[in-house]
Amino acid sequence: MILVTGATGNYGSKAIEHLLKKGVAVKDIAALVRSEEKTQSLDEKGITTKIGDYADIDSMIRAFEGVDQLLLVSSSDRSAVENRTKHHINAFKAAKKAGVKHIVYTSFVRTPGHEDSDIADFQNSHVESEQFLKESGITYTILQNGIYQEMILAFAGEKVAETGTILFPAQKGKATWVLREELAEAATHVLTTKAHENKTYILTNTESVGFKEIAKDISSALGKEVSYQSPSVDEFKSILQKAGVPGMYIGMFVIWGTAVAQGMMDLKDPTLASFLGRKPKTVKQFIDQVYA
Ligand SMILES: NC(=O)c1ccc[n+]([C@@H]2O[C@H](COP(=O)([O-])OP(=O)(O)OC[C@H]3O[C@@H](n4cnc5c(N)ncnc54)[C@H](OP(=O)(O)O)[C@@H]3O)[C@@H](O)[C@H]2O)c1
Repeated sequence: MILVTGATGNYGSKAIEHLLKKGVAVKDIAALVRSEEKTQSLDEKGITTKIGDYADIDSMIRAFEGVDQLLLVSSSDRSAVENRTKHHINAFKAAKKAGVKHIVYTSFVRTPGHEDSDIADFQNSHVESEQFLKESGITYTILQNGIYQEMILAFAGEKVAETGTILFPAQKGKATWVLREELAEAATHVLTTKAHENKTYILTNTESVGFKEIAKDISSALGKEVSYQSPSVDEFKSILQKAGVPGMYIGMFVIWGTAVAQGMMDLKDPTLASFLGRKPKTVKQFIDQVYA
């Protein structure tokens, strides 16, 4: 039995679809959900759902009973980064208690200097979680996922087609953006093939792309000129404040923007392509699909 957490979310739901596409029987897949109200699309596929919350270790011990492989989708808790670490450690402890044999954990890509970067807190949570997992004695596979291409939509701004401008403090920084679904597909490759025990994989794209190129690609997809401007962090904050964006989101946008500027997600690696058996989707292909 393979149990996928975060199954009501974007990544987890795609992971379940790809397990089915790879021929894993419905009866051999289970999904962890926080609430019974969100199980409809899983029920329609015939997937067994188990109720559990990363904050409640006992709920996960019950949910993980009979599970051989666990795909642990990292926590999305936005209130405090320490909560994420605690959530992951709770899940690892619960898995050990329930007798899970193999944990596949979705971590995040790291580049040298991440400890002193603007994204350090977020990175440290993954570093600590990975460390705990490695020392737990359970067989693991760590997937250091690249930054989602889908994040480009938020960073470029919902109204980019109207304004014709991308305002984002990423300077000339680049990243090896990856399509979230392809990361989920790669995780299912790990779950359904052999020789991934106690390995850490970097799952990123093989091209680095910055916002100048993103603006060019959006321009060509829209058939309308889009320019890129990288304001100072203070200017950027003040623009978002005036637009009524909540403080928590402003903080997140600043962290992501400066982390891209610092090259914190700019790491090319061929592993994703090898797991997919094809070249990962490029930023241009993604932008053409979304904006055209
Ligand atoms: N690589 C990147 O660029 C990037 C970017 C953003 C996030 N991430 C990470 O990747 C993960 C998956 O991304 P995503 O796009 O699929 O996120 P998502 O759509 O927000 O899904 C998150 C999933 O985690 C579940 N979840 C959250 N807190 C939980 C808890 N306390 N107990 C049990 N389940 C919980 C959610 O359940 P509910 O439906 O009940 O809320 C949801 O199913 C995120 O959680 C985050 O850690 C990566």
